[in-house]
Parts: sequence; structure tokens; C-alpha cells
Amino acid sequence: RSDVPRALRGHVLQFNASPFCEDPTSAITDWQDGLIVIQDGLIHAVGQADDLMGTLPEGTIIEDHSGKLILPGFIDCHAHYPQSEVIASYGTQLIEWLNTYTFPAEAKFRDKAYAQAAANVYLAESFRNGITSASVYCTVHPESAEALFEAASTFSMRMIAGKVLMDRNAPDNLRDTAQSGYDDSKRLIEAWHGKGRNLYCITPRFAPTSTPQQLEAAGALWKEHPGTLVQTHTSENLKEIEWVKTLYPDHTDYVGVYEHFGLLGKGSILGHAIHLSDRERAVISESGTGVAHCPTSNTFIGSGLFDVKEAHYGAHPFRVGLATDVGGGSSFSMLSTMRTAYEIAQLRGYSLHPAQAYYLSTVGSAKALYLEDRIGNLMPGMEADITVIDMHSTELIRHRMSYADTLTEALFTQMILGDDRAIAATYVNGKKVYEKPS
Ligand code: GUN
Ligand code: ZN
Repeated sequence: RSDVPRALRGHVLQFNASPFCEDPTSAITDWQDGLIVIQDGLIHAVGQADDLMGTLPEGTIIEDHSGKLILPGFIDCHAHYPQSEVIASYGTQLIEWLNTYTFPAEAKFRDKAYAQAAANVYLAESFRNGITSASVYCTVHPESAEALFEAASTFSMRMIAGKVLMDRNAPDNLRDTAQSGYDDSKRLIEAWHGKGRNLYCITPRFAPTSTPQQLEAAGALWKEHPGTLVQTHTSENLKEIEWVKTLYPDHTDYVGVYEHFGLLGKGSILGHAIHLSDRERAVISESGTGVAHCPTSNTFIGSGLFDVKEAHYGAHPFRVGLATDVGGGSSFSMLSTMRTAYEIAQLRGYSLHPAQAYYLSTVGSAKALYLEDRIGNLMPGMEADITVIDMHSTELIRHRMSYADTLTEALFTQMILGDDRAIAATYVNGKKVYEKPS
């Protein structure tokens, strides 16, 4: 049964190329009075409203967002849904933060009903921030992944998620074993991978909380299930890196641990990757591994400043997406996340152009996940995940916008001053999942 065709009218933006080039603005194509035609969850056509109006299928419902920006839905390529309740926790850096706040919170997800309630909060908050797709860490409990996949399925959301694997250096009630982690993940893959728009992501938390046996099992599982993804953390915090050296003394470096166990490659996403050596950059680059840049987490838990310029223009370029890293990150807003990415670039002595920031949070994240043929852009044939931005969401933004002459300036104003209040509507799989109350 077909859905009623729908068309969104407004200022439509599309990326025609990567903005990591001489003239970033040239990577954006826009139609001030544009139209996106949607049928059965897919984008059917994109262009000038005048040109498309006469071609609409019979019975098309037009939703008018005139004066607002229509963007590809934001893709958060690294987040922890169980950590929504510990976002904004005071006074610690990574290892202490995990032990003090994160692990006690995650222990509660053994209870399926608790996980279901948290999954609903997480999805509602993501939609309220224009996030239409995410790569999500659950907890060690398989129930936590089931709860998230079930919740995401009710919206036909492209959810990428997995149960965390962790068999050491964590409290008793948060540990699996190499064997049980493998078995539980395999069962979840069989139940959820490719079911609707769900994709399974094999999720060893990070090298310190997995034995070599567990990382080996994770690598084997990935080989046995091509098309699934892998996510883990690397080189986020200096003490963490020292710890990995003591736990894995025979490996060349942190990324080398994942390399050894077959956990790098296309469809593997490393979170953070702030403190990398040249060798590590080379392996990430050559293997096609993606990296999740988590700016508000870099600053909030004081880990360091990711080098987005080196990642794109250095000797060993790799795919980079933008991520909230909730709750190590301090915001669900991808606009606020872009602002912090800009500020981190400034602290490193260069600028992140707005075209580049919006690209990272859409096409960039899709590319890091190797899903750029399906999500992250507004192109015919792609999945209809869409975010609508109200460019006058606060008095200050309204004032500043009255002095903005170009699209680039408008985009920059939104990412520096905007937050969840700027999200007018969010569409997932062609259906409205959030509309800002008027
Ligand atoms: N490294 C291992 N686990 C985590 C986590 O939950 N959050 C962050 N930011 N880093 C981690
Ligand atoms: Zn994380």
C-alpha cells in the first residue's frame, strides 16, 4: 500500500560536492522557493517549486515551510542513549566520569521497561533537535538494544545500534564475557540487522573494557556478518591512551589494537580519535575507517581538540562525521555541536566554514557510516529524512538575521546562535515525527 505523496515547500539545500575545497559555498545548491516531493519514504524529486508543481502526483499534500530552510536530517554518528540521564554531570574527565556517573546509570538498563522509557526520551529529544538517524551505543544488556530498535522501528528510523561488549574493568553488573557477548550480539544481528531500516553495529566499548579474547570474537563476528557495522572509542583522553599501553603492551599503538583484531575497515566508526599518531592516521585512512568528531564531548569532559583540518587535508585523509556523544557531550543540538566544532577549529588556529559544518553533520556522518547513497542528502532516490529550520527562533537570531546578506551568513548565524528552538519540524522516512509547538 502506497502512502499519500507529500511535498515540502521552502528554502531547500542540497550538497552537490564536498565543501572541503577552495570554495566551500560552491558545494551547496539551493532553491529559495524549492520543493521536495516524497513518496513511500523516498525522495522522488527536488527542485524549484514552479518547475515541479505541475508534475506532482494526484492527491499530493503540500506542507508549506516557506521562509524556512529545508535540510537533510542531521545524522549523529556517535551517541549513548543510556547516558541521557547523566548529561551535564560535574567535575570529572573520562575514566572517572565513566566510573562515577556513566556505569551506575548504565546498570539500570538490565530492566527492559527502564530501557524502553529511556529509548523513548532519547528518540524524542533527537527528533526535537532535527536528528533523524544515529549510531548509538546501548548498554551491555541485550534488552537495552532491543528496547532501542523497537522504539526506532515505530518511526521507521534508520537506527544504527548495538549492545556494548565489555568483559573487564567494569562493575560486575555491567560485564559480559567474550562468549556471551558474541552470542548475544549474534542473536541481536539475526533479529534486527536489516529489519526495516535498522542496522546492527557491533559495539566493543573500547580496548580497556575488553579482553583480547573479546576483541577477537568481535572481529570474527563482523567477518561472519558482512554489512553490519562496528563502533568503538579510540584516543580520546591521554590517561586512557597510557592505560591501553599497559593493557596491550605488544601492540604498536591504540588504533593498532583494533587493527590487529580486524575491527577497522569500511563500516567501522572510531569515536573521538583526538590524539593520533601519523601511523594511526595512515591505517585509518587506508582501511577506510570512519571517525566520529564529538566536539561538545572534547570540551565538556576535557579530552582535547580534534583536528578536523588534518583529517581532511593531511597526508592521510579519512571520513569524518559529526556526533553529540551524549552524555559525554553536553548537547543534543547538532547546531550547538557545529558551534563547538567551529570553536575547536578556532582554538587550533583555523576556521570551519558553515558549509563544512553542515556537511559534517549530514553527508559527512553518512559517509563515515558508508550510508551516503541512502541518507544525509536531499537527492532523488534517497531516503526522506529531513530537518526544517526556523531561521528566526529567538529575538537575538531575528535581530542578527536582519543583517545577514548571504545564505552562508544565515547558515553560520543558525549554527552559532541556534539550538533546539531553531528546529521547526523533523521528518523521518517521509513522515513528520516532530513539529515545534507554535
Ligand atoms: N570511552 C569509553 N566509553 C565511553 C563513553 O561512554 N563515553 C565517552 N565519551 N568515551 C568513552
Ligand atoms: Zn562515546
